[in-house]
Amino acid sequence: MTINNRLNGRRIIVFGSATGIGAATVKRLAEEGARVCAADINIEGATKVAQEAGGETFAVHVDISDEASVQKATEEAVSRFGGLDGAHINAADLRVIMEDSDALSIDLSIFDRTIAVNLRGHLLCTRAVLPHLTKSGKGAIVYTSSGSAHGGEPVRPCYAMAKAGVNALMRHVAARWGKEGVTANVLAPGFTVTGEMKKQMEANAEEATKWAQHFMSRTPHTRLGESEDHAAVVALLLSDDGRWINGAIVDVNGGSLM
Ligand code: NAI
Repeated sequence: MTINNRLNGRRIIVFGSATGIGAATVKRLAEEGARVCAADINIEGATKVAQEAGGETFAVHVDISDEASVQKATEEAVSRFGGLDGAHINAADLRVIMEDSDALSIDLSIFDRTIAVNLRGHLLCTRAVLPHLTKSGKGAIVYTSSGSAHGGEPVRPCYAMAKAGVNALMRHVAARWGKEGVTANVLAPGFTVTGEMKKQMEANAEEATKWAQHFMSRTPHTRLGESEDHAAVVALLLSDDGRWINGAIVDVNGGSLM
């Protein structure tokens, strides 16, 4: 794989960067020359990722469900870099996903917890970064949503509802802030074995294996997605090469949903 230097000097914050897709994205952005702030509730994990990524990458603690915490993390990145050019709003609470059963049986506390991080948290991150991205002239946001938002699944309605909300938020930002030089797009991954998903699979192997087989059976390839597949697309969307992509939901799933 050839990595170019197309993000040279770009100042980017990644919310949700300690494991999985966010961690791979931090590394990919740094490899392409960006200055990256790795923000996560798991500060030990984010610090390790930042160290491995090298360059000017550094880690900050953030809980994206807490407005003050999001503002503080964003200000740390802005003060270290002197501004911001991009944000990958990727964090999600995936611990609730195995309890997210169906609309009739679900405990409403699962709905509240899912929305607080996976949707409201994305709005809080958006509000924190937008005033800085509009000053950049090359501002770009990539949200991580999911194929579940538009794929239709018999399970995990709360997760899907939150992700559908992220898609709507992205389109609003693209429509409202395009004229101020900000692009907004959604990365919609298909099933990918990552940090929390891996733990869930280990804890509930039978259910997780069924889920993985379900996705494999729908993919015209012979493998599941990997975090690096997504990181490459995020890098494109945050670069000048992706400048004419705006308001798009980019399915990255090997064709499991089309
Ligand atoms: P992951 O569990 O490896 O990464 C999620 C990251 O978010 C972790 O570093 C975690 O510490 C962080 N996080 C959780 N709650 C937080 C909070 N309140 N504040 C700040 N950080 C918080 O999972 P993965 O798979 O890499 O997920 C990344 C994104 O991709 C998520 O938005 C997820 O919904 C989405 N996605 C994942 C799929 C998959 O199959 N793995 C499929 C479709 C979408």
